[in-house]
Amino acid sequence: MKILGIDTSCDETAAAVVEDGETILSNVVATQIPFHAAYEGVVPEIASRKHTEWISMVVQESLDKAGISAGDLGGVAVTAHPGMLGSLLVGLNFAKAFAYALNIPFIAVNHMLAHLYASRLAEEKPAYPFLGLLVSGGHSVICRVDDFDAITALGATIDDAVGEAFDKVAKHYGFGYPGGVAIDRVARKGDASAFRFPMPNLYKGEHRYDFSYSGLKTAVINQLEQFRIKADPTREDIAASFQKTAVEILLRSLFRAVKDTGLATVVAGGGVAANSLLRARVAEQCGVLRAIFPPLSLCGDNGAMVAGLGFRLLERGDRSPLDTVASARARGFKKKYP
Ligand code: KG4
Ligand code: ZN
Repeated sequence: MKILGIDTSCDETAAAVVEDGETILSNVVATQIPFHAAYEGVVPEIASRKHTEWISMVVQESLDKAGISAGDLGGVAVTAHPGMLGSLLVGLNFAKAFAYALNIPFIAVNHMLAHLYASRLAEEKPAYPFLGLLVSGGHSVICRVDDFDAITALGATIDDAVGEAFDKVAKHYGFGYPGGVAIDRVARKGDASAFRFPMPNLYKGEHRYDFSYSGLKTAVINQLEQFRIKADPTREDIAASFQKTAVEILLRSLFRAVKDTGLATVVAGGGVAANSLLRARVAEQCGVLRAIFPPLSLCGDNGAMVAGLGFRLLERGDRSPLDTVASARARGFKKKYP
């Protein structure tokens, strides 16, 4: 069955066609980066306007590239939460109307579960259960994954998401936009030991796998001199030292969860899963754990992951009502932090 997947949760207008939850027939991502770059961050009003302008074209292109017409679709899946409300509404309403007009099943999905599904569209398909590392601009969660729609958060950021920390630091130092990609690039020319930034220390009791990014962000932006090791650090050194600490914060909790749970497969998802240092550091552990990162094209927001997850839900008979609402917050999965 061919499913159309739509994602307009943030600043990418994305649509894809996936067959049987596994084979990507098309994956179109129209990025709005040039429209937000001047502001060095996503402007919600601009994002929803661009989604409105582009959604029909992007969906048509996804059908054309898949070599099918709308009548060949077996269902429509769309991200309904979490994300920016004005942006979500465009994709959600488009998807409802599209499914209604074609009289085919409609399913609304959780964007974070879709990110977790992304790696299943590539070569390796790990058996459940495994540990999930969900790292994006809005969320950072380490979770136990028992099925494609059954995840339990073990730990999460108690303040900023890791992608948000990359974006804020990049904006402050003018590294470029989007911030995570820019820091990843700039850091390659820097010395990661030029600064020794603080690591959060909250690993007790219920916070055993939690982490925090606001302290690191404040240190890098407001207290730089205090953490300097090298005499004449460059901008590249700041990027490299920040990135190293940001990745180590995540890994400290992740490796603790691997050790405690005995789950030795880690599946990553979300924009920050594209980070080259994170990928390299996890790959170093290959003797101890099996790490599965989506290909770079499926780390950021895309419609294919939505279509893939949507197929699994539709296949077992799930349907979403046409009065399904969008939500800025994630809904409907067990987690410590609502
Ligand atoms: O999953 P995503 O595309 O959108 C959300 O659901 O939030 O993630 C976007 C986030 C942004 O914060 C962006 O800076 C970050 O992912 N990101 C990266 C990299 N590529 C994107 N962070 C670190 N290194 C990267 N290479
Ligand atoms: Zn995302």
